[in-house]
Amino acid sequence: MQNLTEKQLTALNPKFEAQKIAFSPIVFQTVISLRELGILDYLFDNFSEATIEDICDHLKLSDYGVRVLLEMAECADIIEYINKDRVKLTKVGFFILNDELTRVNLNFVNDVCYHGAKSLTECIKTGKPEGLKVLGNWKTVYEGLSQLPEKIKTSWFEFDHYYSDDAFPTALKIVFNENPKYIFDIGGNTGKWSFACCDFDKNVNVKILDLPGQLNIARENAKNRGLLNRVDFHQIDLLDEFQKIPKGADAIWMSQFLDCFSPEEIIKILKNVKQAASDTTNIYIMEPFFDNQRFPAAKYSLTATSLYFTTIANGNSKMYSCNKMKELVSKSGLEVVEVFPLIGDSYHTILKCRKTQ
Ligand SMILES: C[S@@+](CC[C@H](N)C(=O)[O-])C[C@H]1O[C@@H](n2cnc3c(N)ncnc32)[C@H](O)[C@@H]1O
Repeated sequence: MQNLTEKQLTALNPKFEAQKIAFSPIVFQTVISLRELGILDYLFDNFSEATIEDICDHLKLSDYGVRVLLEMAECADIIEYINKDRVKLTKVGFFILNDELTRVNLNFVNDVCYHGAKSLTECIKTGKPEGLKVLGNWKTVYEGLSQLPEKIKTSWFEFDHYYSDDAFPTALKIVFNENPKYIFDIGGNTGKWSFACCDFDKNVNVKILDLPGQLNIARENAKNRGLLNRVDFHQIDLLDEFQKIPKGADAIWMSQFLDCFSPEEIIKILKNVKQAASDTTNIYIMEPFFDNQRFPAAKYSLTATSLYFTTIANGNSKMYSCNKMKELVSKSGLEVVEVFPLIGDSYHTILKCRKTQ
């Protein structure tokens, strides 16, 4: 070290950072293996430390297998060595095992995104989600969601719900402040928001609008909750401009929905929303905008999620900034009348909109 020039020294950190990137898929799979083989759990259950021999005996793994994983894990700051035969979980290791954001993101990347990510360059060239071919023969992931293998489907839904669930309690108060009697939940998915509305106000009715696969799941869920008398269903493909959103809503709700589309598509969808809205219909757009987050981890996760849209979802959508969404709202003949930034403990902002007079 002493013989290195200052220039060489300043190159060391960037060079090290570049190697972390070069090997990041390997580190990622190391984490998945440590978890799947039960090594992280074993360490956690033993007050975060154990000998390599104990790990091998307890989990019936080879000394070779455990050592290659742990040596990589040490470089990635997931474990540390107390001595050459005894290791300890670090704070990063603890988070990988116990933090919900990390768990949901890891599963989503591993089960939904990982294989398809290799096609990113091709996706950028074609504007198509070439990586989706790994999962099935659909134009967008939304067409295939309900048919995905169980494990992949679970990871997709857990990822989707993780981000929106925490926003719902505060969002309900915002929406019901205006006492709506009929809410349209566009892109209502499995019905979580619609059912939360029904629980919140015994007098409200809800219409879920979505693609057929998701609508079937939502209908089944509504049936199981005894809500078929208050929730109705409208099959629609909002990429088809000839399919119009029906009129009659007091409130139109779109949660984590518009990020599934390109800016041009968003304008067309919002114009469709406009033709369905009356002068008094409140239109709510709830999104996790990447430029409006409390923590760098959230901004990082959301920005990376855009590449999932590129490779797997549809090839042309992304997570948006708040200003970009406001610009698209106004280009559609709507106006933002109120902004509720970062509601509750969530990542979400609500834009309350009306038809421009
Ligand atoms: C990311 S999910 C959001 C689900 C839910 N609103 C939430 O906040 O968790 C997007 C939803 O939009 C629906 N969707 C995607 N493309 C659509 C289209 N072209 N027409 C109608 N719905 C669509 C999907 O089926 C899915 O249920």
